[in-house]
Amino acid sequence: MLGKSSPGRAILPFVRRSYHPDPAATGGTVGRAGPRRLVIAALLAAMPLAPLAGAMTAGAAEPAAAGDPRSGERVFVTQCRACHSIERGGHNRLGPNLHGVFGRRAGAVPGFRYSRAMRAKAEAGLVWGADTLRAYLANPRAVVPGTAMTFVGLRNERQLADLLAYLERASAAD
Ligand code: HEC
Repeated sequence: MLGKSSPGRAILPFVRRSYHPDPAATGGTVGRAGPRRLVIAALLAAMPLAPLAGAMTAGAAEPAAAGDPRSGERVFVTQCRACHSIERGGHNRLGPNLHGVFGRRAGAVPGFRYSRAMRAKAEAGLVWGADTLRAYLANPRAVVPGTAMTFVGLRNERQLADLLAYLERASAAD
């Protein structure tokens, strides 16, 4: 990697020197035109390095459809944290602690008093995964009619995807 970027570095000192203010250059003499053309040539030579750098980072990027957990954290902080903790061993608030929620049966946090509606869904086999969480968080009452979660629902697809990415990561963290 270093070897590939070195030509760009080698060009830089030359470019800087060429841009160095020189009172004689303002005259625009024929003798000065040469270096200027060289500067353009040097910049053009350096340009192919930019797409190269882009290609190297693109390989590490997440698929476009996946949510961004960092944006999702903001959604959680503003929309959920008043009622939910997510860290391991966190206290139940108005809503149950969400640690380990992915793959867990609904209504299963010890010591939390769930609504009758949630308990019924749990008995019917509702398990929290990406799909069930997406549906519940988009419209809680549609998935669990009578739920005690007084949250209107997150209709913004982008925010929902980001939130799910965050939940998956944070609910599994130590
Ligand atoms: C006003 C408080 C409140 C807000 C805000 C809120 N919740 Fe809840 N949440 C609750 C309550 C109360 C329950 C229990 C629902 C029941 O028993 O019917 C719950 C239940 C849940 C459950 C089911 C947990 C389980 O153990 O079955 C999940 C998952 C959940 N909330 C996620 C979220 C997320 C994510 C947000 C933010 C988008 C959020 N909640 C916002 C109060 C809230």
